[in-house]
Amino acid sequence: MGIKNMTKSNQKHYQRIGNIYNDLWHFSDEYIQFMAKNIIEYLRLKPTDTLVDLGCGTGMYSQAILNQIQLDNPIICVDCSAKMLEQIPDSSQYKPMAVDAIDFVSQAEVYNKVFMKEVIHHIDNQELLFSSLFAKLPIGGTFLLILLPPTIDYPLFTQALQRYEKTQPHYDNLAKLLEKVGFHVSVNFVEYLQVIPKLKYFHMVENRYMSLLSFFDDQQLAAGLAEMAQKYAQQSILEFPDRFVFITANKL
Ligand SMILES: C[S@@+](CC[C@H](N)C(=O)[O-])C[C@H]1O[C@@H](n2cnc3c(N)ncnc32)[C@H](O)[C@@H]1O
Repeated sequence: MGIKNMTKSNQKHYQRIGNIYNDLWHFSDEYIQFMAKNIIEYLRLKPTDTLVDLGCGTGMYSQAILNQIQLDNPIICVDCSAKMLEQIPDSSQYKPMAVDAIDFVSQAEVYNKVFMKEVIHHIDNQELLFSSLFAKLPIGGTFLLILLPPTIDYPLFTQALQRYEKTQPHYDNLAKLLEKVGFHVSVNFVEYLQVIPKLKYFHMVENRYMSLLSFFDDQQLAAGLAEMAQKYAQQSILEFPDRFVFITANKL
């Protein structure tokens, strides 16, 4: 499995939260359906396409995609964490593969549409991934890269937001890299207003729902939660814009 391209601490993070991930990341059904609808549109997904969900985690978005469109071929769900993959329904509609993303793109699988959501910050050799994908996709194939922007308005504690800003890859650099390896690239922003009960969000943070929270020890996390409790003392519902960068890379 993919220890080689993913740090051991991140690997441990996803193995640890695999069985509670869907609970932690399930902001709302409406949000997940919204995201799936956008993925379908940006990929111009058709029933005859063969789709890869690269770094699929628990396959939450693949499942939502199949609620909206019928595909003739199973979705190839790739993730290096077996614990995350275990959550995917046992069905011929999915082909789970426990393999590192970079190893996957050098394998013999055939596909023409690929999306990768909130994974790129875990990939060290992004150029290798992009150039291998370019070589692998047929003419007319599309790679949709989805990531968070350089700053986020999540109701997290200050140190977590600072750490995020230091480590998040910039979408501009990724778009340039995709162009460099040969893709025709366009960048768009997709926004959703998250509305979530405060206690639910605090529970997500307590359980370190984002991998960046695993860099804080128990004491630091407790201090961060105390800061959040003070800041949001008057609110029972938290509302914040969740912005995503959609980089569409086409092989023309
Ligand atoms: C934040 S989760 C996103 C999961 C899913 N795409 C989603 O949006 O719900 C990141 C996922 O990337 C996987 N991952 C990280 N590095 C990887 C790599 N090098 N190859 C394959 N999967 C990787 C992790 O195991 C984890 O499931």
